[in-house]
Amino acid sequence: MKGFWNLTSTISLTLSILFLFGYNYEDVSAVPTTHLCRPEQRDALLQFKNEFEVLNSSTESWMNNSDCCTWEGITCDAKSGEVIELDLSCSNLRGKFYSNSSLRNLHSLTTLNLSANDFSGQIIDPSSIVDLSYLTSLDLSFNSFPGQILSSIGNLSHLTYLNLELNQISEIPSSFGNLNQLTTLDVAVNRLNGSFPIALLNLTKLSYLGLYENQFTGTIPHNITSLSKLTTFDGTSHNNFSGKIPSFICDLGSVETLDLSNNNFNGSIPRCLGNLNYTLTDLNLGQNRLHGGLPGNIFANLRALDLGHNKLMGKLPMSLINFSSLEVLNVESNIINDTFPIWLSSLPELNILVLRSNAFHGPIHQTSFPKALDFSGNKFEGEIPSSIGLLKELLMLNLSNNAFTGHIPSSMGNLTALESLDVSQNQLSGEIPQELGSLSFLSYMNFSHNQLTGLVLSWIAAVIGVIPGIAFGWVIGYILFSYKPQWFMNPFARNKHRISSTTTH
Ligand SMILES: *[C@@H]1O[C@H](CO)[C@@H](O)[C@H](O)[C@H]1NC(C)=O
Ligand SMILES: *[C@@H]1O[C@H](CO)[C@@H](O)[C@H](O)[C@H]1NC(C)=O
Ligand SMILES: *[C@@H]1O[C@H](CO)[C@@H](O)[C@H](O)[C@H]1NC(C)=O
Ligand SMILES: *[C@@H]1O[C@H](CO)[C@@H](O)[C@H](O)[C@H]1NC(C)=O
Ligand SMILES: *[C@@H]1O[C@H](CO)[C@@H](O)[C@H](O)[C@H]1NC(C)=O
Ligand SMILES: *[C@@H]1O[C@H](CO)[C@@H](O)[C@H](O)[C@H]1NC(C)=O
Ligand SMILES: *[C@@H]1O[C@H](CO)[C@@H](O)[C@H](O)[C@H]1NC(C)=O
Ligand SMILES: *[C@@H]1O[C@H](CO)[C@@H](O)[C@H](O)[C@H]1NC(C)=O
Ligand SMILES: *[C@@H]1O[C@H](CO)[C@@H](O)[C@H](O)[C@H]1NC(C)=O
Ligand SMILES: *[C@@H]1O[C@H](CO)[C@@H](O)[C@H](O)[C@H]1NC(C)=O
Ligand SMILES: *[C@@H]1O[C@H](CO)[C@@H](O)[C@H](O)[C@H]1NC(C)=O
Ligand SMILES: *[C@@H]1O[C@H](CO)[C@@H](O)[C@H](O)[C@H]1NC(C)=O
Repeated sequence: MKGFWNLTSTISLTLSILFLFGYNYEDVSAVPTTHLCRPEQRDALLQFKNEFEVLNSSTESWMNNSDCCTWEGITCDAKSGEVIELDLSCSNLRGKFYSNSSLRNLHSLTTLNLSANDFSGQIIDPSSIVDLSYLTSLDLSFNSFPGQILSSIGNLSHLTYLNLELNQISEIPSSFGNLNQLTTLDVAVNRLNGSFPIALLNLTKLSYLGLYENQFTGTIPHNITSLSKLTTFDGTSHNNFSGKIPSFICDLGSVETLDLSNNNFNGSIPRCLGNLNYTLTDLNLGQNRLHGGLPGNIFANLRALDLGHNKLMGKLPMSLINFSSLEVLNVESNIINDTFPIWLSSLPELNILVLRSNAFHGPIHQTSFPKALDFSGNKFEGEIPSSIGLLKELLMLNLSNNAFTGHIPSSMGNLTALESLDVSQNQLSGEIPQELGSLSFLSYMNFSHNQLTGLVLSWIAAVIGVIPGIAFGWVIGYILFSYKPQWFMNPFARNKHRISSTTTH
């Protein structure tokens, strides 16, 4: 699976970047107003622009002889004519902020968006923007702000939205504890280390907290329950949190997405997660050191369950059969010892089933999982059932590294959507069915380490030649997107433009 996920990382990265750029150049709109902007604010804006290297920017529409309220990215108060919103996101501005920044003349700002530029130097000293009492939304994400944040940011006591995602910040000042109106705080993808920042426990109105992709260590404090409004607790993934999965997480009553993946959690999966059975739709505990059995009696509304890369053992609990919303089940790289879970095929929404690298054994039967199947690295045996040809929507099929015998069924020629096929490292024999030659989307195939004949290399080359590699890219992208519905599919809504990839499996 490594190669597969590595590839998906690359693709997702590419897609993200595409989205990033697709998304960037829109949406900086001017709001007309009957009031002319104040001259001193106009001058401050022009001066601010001049403080930076402007590469290619919406600020080119800023002219000294026009009403600044009509400039791109500026919104003025309809009555006073004061600039209240400044959106310079994605404006190709580069350079250092100084505390004497002329932004300080924009007294009435409520919204400041400097996202996705190339700002460096100390994060703006908020006290340089003289009256702090109006600012409710500050977006400094996707820049290169380094190191420590000035503790005076804690003076912005009316902030409800603060986004510092993807900078190089290494410390959260304790004054963050004063920002108790915040509903969104995003400090993901920075260089934060040490233990969970206790000051954040004061932010009881938070519904979103993003801490992922930092270097936090230690356990998650028990009184995180004070953050009772959190709806998404995926903030901890890709850190180095350790200890047991804290059971108080079960008290976070409105959590829909729980992503604790890529940490160092050990112990078993807390049974009490079942308390979240009404709200939880996405659960990712992958890439930890969890052991014990799989949870059985919980998660009725789950859409995606990722338990891959742990040390879980036992059988797949039959109660999974009640998870009628389940779309994705990934238990790869555990020690699950079970026969083929034919009963899972009664789950109407299950699209992606990854059982690879466990101790599954015995024959596989007729399946009806439509999109992607990965059974590799187990001890499945017997023939590949010819009913596999019924999975007309199957895009990816990986049966490698098992003990399959017999022929490759010619019915596979009916898998007309198939883009990736791997049956390597089995004991298959006979001819590779000619019917596979008609699979026009097939762009990756691996038949190696079997006793197969009839493989004409030029035929493969021809097929690969006809189908450009992009096809595989698309299917991987597709699988990726379906794979973690919420974690990937909607890069706009949640992690607007998350450049660094989440799939580092
Ligand atoms: C804008 O023009 C006015 C005169 O029209 C001038 O006084 C002012 O300095 C100019 N501001 C900037 C930033 O160029
Ligand atoms: C500047 O950006 C605009 C879109 O905002 C684009 O059409 C134009 O080609 C860019 N110019 C340069 C020199 O990058
Ligand atoms: C800031 O601008 C970016 C890019 O245009 C946008 O995605 C983001 O939502 C904006 N931030 C806020 C708080 O509106
Ligand atoms: C702001 O400070 C920097 C360095 O301290 C200085 O180079 C710059 O000229 C100052 N800008 C203004 C407008 O005072
Ligand atoms: C801002 O915060 C600092 C310390 O965090 C404090 O000393 C200062 O008085 C505050 N300034 C304002 C204007 O509230
Ligand atoms: C938490 O917020 C309260 C106000 O609600 C404030 O008095 C207190 O100082 C804050 N605590 C920390 C640790 O910032
Ligand atoms: C956090 O990182 C800084 C360097 O950025 C280092 O000096 C410090 O020791 C680290 N702290 C911990 C707890 O690892
Ligand atoms: C949370 O618990 C920690 C100790 O684990 C304590 O230092 C902190 O003051 C507590 N904070 C709140 C808000 O209860
Ligand atoms: C994570 O923490 C463990 C100790 O809990 C330590 O051995 C390991 O080196 C850390 N890993 C990283 C990447 O910091
Ligand atoms: C959800 O969990 C609660 C408490 O654990 C339990 O009483 C209830 O029956 C569960 N509901 C469903 C639909 O599983
Ligand atoms: C799987 O379980 C069976 C008994 O149910 C046992 O005989 C077998 O050794 C187990 N295989 C592995 C790899 O643990
Ligand atoms: C392929 O599908 C067609 C109908 O869709 C069916 O008639 C045919 O028997 C199938 N071929 C194989 C080899 O299963």
